[in-house]
Amino acid sequence: MKSNQVKEQYNSMAFFYDVLYANYDLSEFENEFINEHKELLASVSNEAKILDSSCGKGVQAVALKKQGFNVTATDISQEMIKLTQIYAKDNNLSIPLKRLAWSELPLEFDDIFDIVFCWGNSISHSLGKEDMLKNLSSFHKIVKDGGKVVIHTRNWEKILKENQRFQSLPIREYNNKKYIPLYIWNLSGFDKINYVEIIFVKIMQDGSTSCTLFRLDFVPFSHIDLIDRLNTTGFKIFYDNYDINSDFYYIVAEK
Ligand SMILES: C[S@@+](CC[C@H](N)C(=O)[O-])C[C@H]1O[C@@H](n2cnc3c(N)ncnc32)[C@H](O)[C@@H]1O
Repeated sequence: MKSNQVKEQYNSMAFFYDVLYANYDLSEFENEFINEHKELLASVSNEAKILDSSCGKGVQAVALKKQGFNVTATDISQEMIKLTQIYAKDNNLSIPLKRLAWSELPLEFDDIFDIVFCWGNSISHSLGKEDMLKNLSSFHKIVKDGGKVVIHTRNWEKILKENQRFQSLPIREYNNKKYIPLYIWNLSGFDKINYVEIIFVKIMQDGSTSCTLFRLDFVPFSHIDLIDRLNTTGFKIFYDNYDINSDFYYIVAEK
C-alpha cells in the first residue's frame, strides 16, 4: 500500500463520505468534539494555533474555528479538502486549507502549533510501523515545546478479536436519494495491510438500485504499540482514555 493509494481511495470516495454524514445534525458532532476536549482547549490561549491534520469533511476544524481558535486544516486528499472548504463556507467561516500528507507537514510548517489533532481514526492509514513513526515524528516537528498531539483511533485489539465481518449502517437520505452503506471488513491482523470495502446501495425513486464499491486500506496497531511509537518519537503521554471494552480511544501526547 502506498500513501498515494490511500489518497486516491479518499479522493474517489469523497462524495460518499458526505453521504455518510447525511441525516445528522453536524453541530451535535461539533459540540461533542469541543466538549470532549474542553480542558485541553481551556489550557491554551484563544490565539493558540491548532492544526487539524486529517480534516476530512471539516467537522473538527469548523468546531475549533467556531471557538475562535487559529485553525489550519490539512488532509492528504484534495477531494476531502474540498468537503472541508464547502462545510466551512456553509458556516460562513474561512479556514486556511492545504493538501498535505502527514509526512509533508514539516516541509510546510516550523514548530508553531499548540495542538495538532489527528482525529477520526485517521492514523491507521499510516502504511505500517515505520511509516507511522515517520508520521508521528512529523507531528513532533511541527508542535511547540509543551504542545500536544491528539491521536484518535479505533480499538484494534477489540476489532480484530471480534472479527465482525459485515456491518449494515442506517439508511442515508442525500439529495433526494436514499443510500444504504454496507461495510465488509477484511481483517488480517496487526501491522499488516487490512481493508474495508464499503458498498453504497443507491435506491432510486422508482425502487431500482445501483451499487458503488470503495476500498479503504489501513494497518491496525495495538494500544501499547501506539504508546511505544509516541514515546519513540519524543512524546510523553499526557492523557489516555483507552478501555479494552471501548470501540475507540484517544491519546493526548505532549512534546
Ligand atoms: C476516517 S477519515 C477522518 C476524517 C475526519 N477527521 C473525521 O473525523 O471525519 C481519515 C482522513 O485521513 C486522511 N488521511 C489518510 N492518510 C493521510 C495522510 N497520510 N496524511 C494526511 N491525511 C491522511 C484521509 O484523506 C481522510 O480524510
